[in-house]
Amino acid sequence: MYATAFLDLPALQSASGTVTLPGSKSISNRVLLLSALSQGTTVVHDLLDSDDTRVMLAALRQLGCGVDVQGTTVTIDGLGGQLQHHNAIEFFMGNAGTAMRPLTAALAVLGGDFTLKGVPRMHERPIGDLVDALRLLGCSIDYLGNEGFPPLRIGQPTLQLDAPIRVRGDVSSQFLTALLMALPLASASQNIVIDVVGELISKPYIDITLNLLARYGIAVQREGWQRFTIPQGSRYQSPGHIHVEADASSASYFIALGAIAQGTGIRIQGVGAESIQGDIRFMDAAAAMGAHITSGANWLEIKRGAWPLRGITLDCNHIPDAAMTLAVMALYADAPTTLNNIASWRVKETDRIAAMATECRKLGAQIEEGADWLRIHPLPQGQWQRASIHTYDDHRVAMCFSLAAFNPDQVPVRIEDPQCVAKTFPDYFEALFSVAKAPQHNIPVICVDGPTASGKGTLASQVAQQLGYHYLDSGALYRVTAYAALQAGLDLAHDEDPIAALARHLPVRFEGDQIWLANSNVSEAIRTEEAGMNASKVSVLPKVRTALVALQHSFRRLPGLVADGRDMGTVIFPDAALKVFLTADAAQRAQRRHKQLISKGFSVTLEGLRADLEARDARDASRSVAPLKPAQDAVSLDNSSLSIEASVQQVLTWWQSKQAF
Ligand code: DC
Repeated sequence: MYATAFLDLPALQSASGTVTLPGSKSISNRVLLLSALSQGTTVVHDLLDSDDTRVMLAALRQLGCGVDVQGTTVTIDGLGGQLQHHNAIEFFMGNAGTAMRPLTAALAVLGGDFTLKGVPRMHERPIGDLVDALRLLGCSIDYLGNEGFPPLRIGQPTLQLDAPIRVRGDVSSQFLTALLMALPLASASQNIVIDVVGELISKPYIDITLNLLARYGIAVQREGWQRFTIPQGSRYQSPGHIHVEADASSASYFIALGAIAQGTGIRIQGVGAESIQGDIRFMDAAAAMGAHITSGANWLEIKRGAWPLRGITLDCNHIPDAAMTLAVMALYADAPTTLNNIASWRVKETDRIAAMATECRKLGAQIEEGADWLRIHPLPQGQWQRASIHTYDDHRVAMCFSLAAFNPDQVPVRIEDPQCVAKTFPDYFEALFSVAKAPQHNIPVICVDGPTASGKGTLASQVAQQLGYHYLDSGALYRVTAYAALQAGLDLAHDEDPIAALARHLPVRFEGDQIWLANSNVSEAIRTEEAGMNASKVSVLPKVRTALVALQHSFRRLPGLVADGRDMGTVIFPDAALKVFLTADAAQRAQRRHKQLISKGFSVTLEGLRADLEARDARDASRSVAPLKPAQDAVSLDNSSLSIEASVQQVLTWWQSKQAF
C-alpha cells in the first residue's frame, strides 16, 4: 500500500498481463455460513482474508465445523443442518455485520444456548427488526444489553411457521438475507413464506443471496421484491467447490485499462460473465464504448477494440459505483458521454458528481453537470494538462483517475492521498504497476551520490519512501558481489572474469531492508567494514562494473527510482531528472561514522577515522575507474549542519520544482 502524501504516476503507455483482484466480502461470508450449514464438504476458493471473514471462521469452528485454511483456500466440513455443539457457547463477532446478522438467524432457528457479542460499536448497530421477525416465528432471543441491540442470548425455539414471516426491508437488506439463509433449516414440513414490509433496499445484495442459495440447493421463489417462498423440504447441499468472486467494482478499473491501453490485453482472474454482483454489468457499458471483452465463468479478458473509444449515453442506475470509471474512459472517446440517473453519487463518500467534474476539468476536459447527470467531452491530444488529483478520501476517485496516466500527451498524473484505496483495494496501485508499462525514459530517477559517510544512503532511502519510489543501494550490489565471489572461492584482486560472470547473474533480492543472496539472508554479513573493503576491491574491476549495469537498470520500475552510488548520475542513469551530490565536511562525516561504529560495538578513534576518510576521499577522487566526482548537472547539498529531515526536505523541494503540478 502507498501511504505517501501523493503518488506521481508517470505517463503510462501500455498494459498487458493478469491481475487477481481481492474477493468480495459479502460473498465470502455468505459462502462460509452456507457451507457450514450444508451436508458435505465444501472447498471455498479465493476467500477474502479480512476481519469479517476471520470472525465467521472462528464462530464456525466453535460450532464444531471442520475448518481448514490454506491461504485463500478454505475447506469446510458442513454440519448438515445439525449442530455438533449447542451448549453455552459465547461467540465474539467483533464489528462484523456480515457475520452477526446471518449467524443470529441461523442459530436462533437451530436452537441452543448461545451468546453473541461484539466490540462496543457492534453493540450500537441495530438488530431489532431481525430479532422481531425471528421472535414472531417462535425463536427465543433475549437482549443482554440495550433493547434492539447486541449482545444477544439465544435459546431453544418453538417454531410457528404457518403464517407468513414479516420483515422490514427498508433498514438493511441484511435482515432479509439472514432469514433467507436460516429458514431453509426449518422447511422440512411446510413452505416458508417471507413478506417484506416497506420498500426493499439494496436489491442487488438480495440477488447475491438468492444466487448463492441456489448453488447450495435452495430454490427460493420470488414474487417481485415483496414475497419470498422457501419450498417445503429444502435442504442445503454442498456444491463441492465454490469460487468467491473478485469484487466486480474493483474489476471496472482493469476492464477500463484493457480498453484504453495498448498491449496484448488484460486478464482479470476471479470474476467473470457469470458474476452475481450487480456491478459486473459495467462490462456491457465498457463494450459499448469499444472494449473488446471475452469472458469465462470467473475470468475476463479485455483488449482495446474501437479506438478512440465511442461516446455513449447511459442510464447508470444499475451500476452506480462502477459507472464512475466510465467518466474517465470518456476522456478517450470520439464524442461526448452522458451518464444519467446518478443522483446517488451526490451522497456517497463525497459528492461524486462534483468531484469527477472538478478533477476532469483539472486535466483540461470540458464537463457539464446536472443534479443527477454528468457529461464528459473527449480530451483530444495536445490538450491534456498535468494535474494533481484531489481524492476526497474516496477510493474510487483515486482508482478512476489513475487511468488518466495513459493520456496521449504523456503528462504525468499526481494522485493525492493514495492510501484512500485501502477501503476496498489496498494494493490497487501495486496491481496497476504489475501490468502497466511506461517507456523507460518516462520513469523518473533521482540519483544521490557523495563521499563515504555523507549520509547518502539514509537520504536516498528516505526520499524514496516519501515518494513511494523504489530504492537502489548500488553499493550493496558491490558488497553482495564481493561476498558471493569469496563464497565461490575467487580471488578479489585477480579473478576479474569469473567475478564479472558471477555478477552478471547475481541472484540478489531486496525485500524491504533485507538483502538475500539466493536463499540466504546476507543483510548483516555485507554491512561489516571488511565487506566494505571487499566491495571496494571488486568495484575497481571494469568488467564487474559493466556486468552490474543491467541489474541496476532493472531497478528503474514504476512508479520511480531513487538510486544511490557514485556512478548513478554519470554512467547508470545519465538521464536522471535530478542528481544530488551530497557532501559534508570531513570532521562531520568522521563524527557520524564514529557514532555509528561505536553503537555497533567497534572501538575506533575519531582522529583515526577522520584520517581514514580523508585518505579514502583522495583515493576515490583520483581512482581511474568510476572516480568520485559529481555529475555535471548535479546539484550540491552540503549537509554538514543539516538534519536528515532537512536534507530530505531540500531534495523533495528540488524534486517538486522539476515536477511542477
Ligand atoms: O556505499 P557502500 O559503502 O555500500 O559501497 C561499497 C563500495 O562499493 C565502496 O567502495 C564504493 C563502491 N561503489 C562503487 O564503486 N560504485 C557504486 N555505484 C556504489 C558503490
